[in-house]
Amino acid sequence: MEPMNRRAFVIGTVATTAAVCCCGFSDVMAAPAADPKPLDVGKLSDYAADGVTDKWAKLPTAVDIVRQNGKLFAVNTRCTHHRVPVQLRKTAGGDELQCPAHGARFAVDGSLVDGLGKARTALQHFGISVDAHGHVLVDKTTVFEERDWDADGSFIKLADAATTQPAAK
Ligand code: FES
Repeated sequence: MEPMNRRAFVIGTVATTAAVCCCGFSDVMAAPAADPKPLDVGKLSDYAADGVTDKWAKLPTAVDIVRQNGKLFAVNTRCTHHRVPVQLRKTAGGDELQCPAHGARFAVDGSLVDGLGKARTALQHFGISVDAHGHVLVDKTTVFEERDWDADGSFIKLADAATTQPAAK
C-alpha cells in the first residue's frame, strides 16, 4: 500500500470526523442493509383495533404497525431527513410521529405534517403480508414511497374494519 500524503490524511480525517459528529445522531444515520428475513410482528388478531403499535419503533427494527381505515400497514420510523427514528406522541389533535432530532412531525400513516424545513417527504411504508399461520410479516427489503401506498403488498386490507380477517383477493 502506498503511504498516504499529509494532505490526503487531513482531508480524510476531517471528512470522517464531520460524518461521525455532524448532529449527535451519527449512530442512527448510517443505513444498514435491510434484513432480508421478514420481521414477524405477531398475529393479525393482535391488531383488532385502530391505532399504532410502536413496539418495534426503535432500531434496529424501526417499524410501526398501523391499523387505520380498514388497512394494516408498516411505517418505516426512520425520519426522511437524517434517518433518526421518530417517536409516537399524544397531542391535542391526536397521535402523531415526531422526530427527536429536529422536530419534524408526521401523521401516524407517515404523511408529512410539518418538516420544519428539514424533512421534506413522508415516511416510507414497508411490504407487509399475512402468512399461512395468520402472522403478519414485514418485508423491509420492499419499500413504498407515499405515491405507492395503495400498491399491492403495501398494506393488508381487512375484510371489515371491525374484524381482523384479511380481505379475499
Ligand atoms: S432527523 Fe428528523 S428532522 Fe432531522
